[in-house]
Amino acid sequence: MQSPIDTALRSAFSRRAFFRMAAGASALAALPVTEQQLALAARPHFADPNIGIHIDANENPMGPSPAARQAVLDILPRGGRYLFNMEDELTELFARQEGLDPESVVAFAGSSSPLHYTVLAFTSKTRPLVVADPGYEAPSWAAQVSGAPILKVPLADPHGAATHDIKAMLAAASNPGVLYICNPNNPTGTVTPQADIEYAVAHVPADAVLLIDEAYIHLSNAPSTLRFVRERKNVIVLRTFSKLYGMAGLRMGFAIGRPDLLAKIVPLGGQDPLPITAMTAAKASLLEPGLVPSRKQTIAAIRQETLAWFSGKGYATTPSDSNCFMLDVRRPASPVQQALAAKQVFVGRMWPAWPTSLRITVGTRDEMRTFRETFLQVMSGSNAEIVPPPHPSRSHFRRMV
Ligand SMILES: Cc1ncc(COP(=O)(O)O)c(C=O)c1O
Repeated sequence: MQSPIDTALRSAFSRRAFFRMAAGASALAALPVTEQQLALAARPHFADPNIGIHIDANENPMGPSPAARQAVLDILPRGGRYLFNMEDELTELFARQEGLDPESVVAFAGSSSPLHYTVLAFTSKTRPLVVADPGYEAPSWAAQVSGAPILKVPLADPHGAATHDIKAMLAAASNPGVLYICNPNNPTGTVTPQADIEYAVAHVPADAVLLIDEAYIHLSNAPSTLRFVRERKNVIVLRTFSKLYGMAGLRMGFAIGRPDLLAKIVPLGGQDPLPITAMTAAKASLLEPGLVPSRKQTIAAIRQETLAWFSGKGYATTPSDSNCFMLDVRRPASPVQQALAAKQVFVGRMWPAWPTSLRITVGTRDEMRTFRETFLQVMSGSNAEIVPPPHPSRSHFRRMV
C-alpha cells in the first residue's frame, strides 16, 4: 500500500521521473526529498510551460536552430526506420570537427544517460563519488543507486570566483571512483581555471575517472577539455545539444573518452537506438556556420544586463559565464521562489549549502524584464503575503536539470 508521501510524490513528479528516482535505491528512503518538494507535492497541478515565465530549467528559449528544425521536418517521413548509419555519421562529423578519433565518441539521447552510467560504472560502496557543492545533483542520484559514498567539497572562493576546489576534491578520498567537474558549473555558471583542471587530470588516481561535464561549454569562454581525450587520459567528457543548441526536448548528447572507458558505460544503456529526429537536428546544428558564436553572444548580452541590474540594486550574483547564475536574495530563498511562482515567474531551485540563493536561468530579454519587475514586487512585500503558487508544475525539473 502506498503511504501518503508516496501518493503526494506520485502526483508531483511525472510517472517516468518518479520511477527513475526510485529505481535501484530503497525508494523514498534514499531520496533527498526536501520540505519544499513535499509542499509542492501536496498540491494538485498541471505542467504547462506555456503559462508564465520559465527561467528554472536552464533551457534555451531560442529552441532548435532553423536548419535543425528543417532537418527534423525533412526526416519525418522516414520515421518508420531505425536508420542506424546516422549515428556513425553524426559521431564521425563531431570527431572530425574536434580532431578526435571517432572511436572516442558515443552518441546518446542527451547527456544525462552517459552521466548516470559513468557514475554507475566507476563508483561503488568502496569507490566514492567526489562532487563540488553547490553543484549539479545528477551524479549524486546515480551514486545512490551504486551505493557509493558521496563526498561534497564546497566551491573555493564562494563569494568570488566560485570555482571547483580541485586540491580539496582530490584530497577528499584516497580511492575515488569518479571526480565530477562541471565546467561551467551548474548552478553558479562559474568557470574553473584550465590549470586547475589540468592538475586534476594529472593527479586523479589511474583507476578513477575524471568526469568533465561540458553541458554549458559553448556558452562560455572556457577552453574545452577534449584535448585530454586526445591525450588518452582517464577522463570522460560530456557534451549536450540541450543548452546552446536548444534541443533539450529533442535529446542528443555525446560521451567522449578513451574507448576502454566508454566500453564500460555503453552496455549499461542496453540496445537503445537513437531518435532520428534528434540525430538529424544535431548534425544540422553542427554544420550551421556561426550558430555557436551568435547564440553565445545573445545569451551573454542578456546575462550581463541582468547581472549589472542586480548589482545596481545591491544583490550579489555569481560571476557567471553561462546561461544560469546564483542570485543571493538575502533571506531564505525558498519562500521567495514560491512567491515568484505565485506570480507565474518560475525560477530555479535553492541548494542547501547556499540557503539564501536561487538559481536563475537567462531567458529572453522580455522574460528577464518581467522577472526583474516581479522580483522587486516580491522583495518589497512581506513573506506573510506569500501565497502558494497556483500551478507549481515543474517540481521534477527542479530536481533534474
Ligand atoms: C550540468 C548538466 N549536465 C547534464 C545535464 C543533462 O542534460 P541533458 O540530458 O538534457 O543533456 C544538465 C541538464 O540541465 C546539466 O545541467
